Amino acid sequence: MRTLPAILLSVRWIALIAIVLVVNSCSPVSDTDKTDEAIQKKVNELMAQMTLQEKIGQMTLFTSDYDVTGPTMRDNYKDDIKSGRVGAIFNAFGADYTRKLQEIAVNETRLGIPLLFGYDVIHGFRTIFPISLGEAASWNLEAIQGAARVAAVEATAEGLHWTFAPMVDIARDPRWGRVSEGAGEDTWLGCRIAEARVKGFQGDDLAATNTLLACAKHYAAYGAAQAGRDYHTVDMSERALREFYLPPYKAAADAGAATFMTSFNELDGIPATGNKHLLTNILRHEWGFDGFVVTDYTSINEMVPHGVVTNEKEAGELALNAGVDMDMQGAVYYNHLEQSLNEGKVTVSQIDQAVRRILTLKFKLGLFDDPYRYSDLKRQQELVMTPQNLETARDMVRRSLVLLKNNNQTLPLRKEKINIALVGPLADNQQELIGSWSAAGDWKKAVSVMEGMKTVAPAANLLFATGCNIADDTTAMIAQAVAAAAKADVVVAVMGEAAWMSGEAACRSQLDLPGVQQELLQQLKATGKPLVVVLMNGRPLTIPWLDQNADALVEAWFPGTQGGLGIADVLFGDYNPSGKLPVTFPRNVGQIPIHYNMKNTGRPMDPNNKYTSKYLDVPNTPLYPFGFGLSYTSFTLSEPRLSDTVLLPAKELKVTATVANTGNYDGEETVQLYVRDLVGSVTRPVKELKGFQKVFLKKGEQAEVTFTLTDADLSFYRSDMTFGAEPGQFVVYVGNSSDNVKSATFTYLQK
Ligand code: NOJ
Repeated sequence: MRTLPAILLSVRWIALIAIVLVVNSCSPVSDTDKTDEAIQKKVNELMAQMTLQEKIGQMTLFTSDYDVTGPTMRDNYKDDIKSGRVGAIFNAFGADYTRKLQEIAVNETRLGIPLLFGYDVIHGFRTIFPISLGEAASWNLEAIQGAARVAAVEATAEGLHWTFAPMVDIARDPRWGRVSEGAGEDTWLGCRIAEARVKGFQGDDLAATNTLLACAKHYAAYGAAQAGRDYHTVDMSERALREFYLPPYKAAADAGAATFMTSFNELDGIPATGNKHLLTNILRHEWGFDGFVVTDYTSINEMVPHGVVTNEKEAGELALNAGVDMDMQGAVYYNHLEQSLNEGKVTVSQIDQAVRRILTLKFKLGLFDDPYRYSDLKRQQELVMTPQNLETARDMVRRSLVLLKNNNQTLPLRKEKINIALVGPLADNQQELIGSWSAAGDWKKAVSVMEGMKTVAPAANLLFATGCNIADDTTAMIAQAVAAAAKADVVVAVMGEAAWMSGEAACRSQLDLPGVQQELLQQLKATGKPLVVVLMNGRPLTIPWLDQNADALVEAWFPGTQGGLGIADVLFGDYNPSGKLPVTFPRNVGQIPIHYNMKNTGRPMDPNNKYTSKYLDVPNTPLYPFGFGLSYTSFTLSEPRLSDTVLLPAKELKVTATVANTGNYDGEETVQLYVRDLVGSVTRPVKELKGFQKVFLKKGEQAEVTFTLTDADLSFYRSDMTFGAEPGQFVVYVGNSSDNVKSATFTYLQK
């Protein structure tokens, strides 16, 4: 039998064990525990200690004065960091600088919550890649993902946690300057590129020190601004919205994009930043997005001039009630949210939900384990602008170039015993090459076309003359360029836009070559020398004269840091161009909007019938269609062969074609697959891209390409707004451009 003291002793032990167990279950989980459950627990513990002001602070994003991307409103943001009234900073980068700011947040605030650093890392951070539209012209998802990866590695080495990219707005109007920032006009291609970019930025693990939070923007339909004027009204049917504009945002969300940015525009009368239908019904409820939503720059405040609220306090209420978690630069939550809460216009649980989403991502990034893990001078020195990053960028330049014309095999140029008149305002230019949104890129490190040509073909004799400026009307320099041309075997003219002519707030109503560039080209042409034109621009231009008169025409977009080298690789034939247009080039501005996937209309164009859908003064066809791009070699494509004449639900139809390299160079062709639903409960586009494959073939080689179609590829929003395929006849097209295709038909049956 046990004695009383022995029993008491064992009771004490049991009590002690119980206390240890209880303490353990309450104690913070290990810092390295990144399970959702563990993170939620830590977030809850932290939130339990936070004041309302500190919570609103987490919902506030301010720009630093280091670099700004819009009008600034505050210069005391460092005091705001100290008082815990700001949780995220953008436009601050560099290991040292971000560390200094982070030290304020960690050491001088009550709770030491680390800051989140965001920046517009759009097409590279220091190593600048071609503008996003140019990258899209590569139609190479692996390369696009790789470019985003390089950008993430460089940006995270300099303290950044978050990029305001990818921009996934479908853009069908080249007047809109921001066409340059996206993937072009097509929804399917836009989805694939959105996924590639999100994966490139975020990698597989947000906790890794070389991955960034992505931000899908600008949600939603920002690219459909009326008349191509930035920030302008967007109004479209719910069907068009869901069918053409929303899928790339959804694709980004499905690929794991951690954050979303609202757009400046209104949609159907409601500004996107106060649009509950977009932000809550669709994004949260339909798509299950669980990251956080940030506004665009002061877009909460802008709901006052939009005319849906009378003051900023009401604007903040509209935004939070719609589903906005973080206010970029507007200081509306900062100034008014407490009052709105006191008045019962918003609830604590709405605020808590937003804060929870933001803190969750800070935990996922590992900022609570080590707030300085991204601000590492050693990594900054080792990982930024490495030879390998530069080589990856050069490769992307080559892949992004689109050969629009090449009469009599003017290109490639030989490297020796050749006199080349190198002319044009962009020929010896570094500054414009890196384009708009060039992050921390230093244009002085960009390789000009002249330098690139000297490097790639040192034996070629270059006769340089500027000829004219980009945008003024000075003709005084033309004579010198013409004199150079007279002495040369061939003229290479590098022409186009200045970087500032595209990007945000950079819309144009005329899309011709600016200034007197065409006049210069006309005089160069008059010398009778073969005329090669390399274009740099952030959007499709209207260039019918060039189409008729240039012997060769290369679309080079704004090619970035390695631009001159990649361009020279193509001009001298070290790389055979393989890019395809991700966007239609109109003949003139009057054709806009023009895109390949238009509707047939009830009166499709008939040249012999006046009363059909056409213009009196310009054909319906574009100058260069979507998907178009030549090569130095030639390819033939067979008729498509189908595995069956019938497709059934949940079954597959194989579409096979033979592609052959019939020319004199090894090269890569992009085989494109389109479908058309001939009869639907609502009208269907004349073609819709549903797949592509890039095939590299040595000269004389051929290969089979096979695509798989399922009913998912035939689905659309039917007349009752349900999504699915309808039985009937379909045409399937295989081609190397949206206007150069061969077809076969099949029937979709629903038994
Ligand atoms: C405004 C732009 O619309 C957006 O794309 C950008 O991310 C923010 N400014 C921040 O610079």
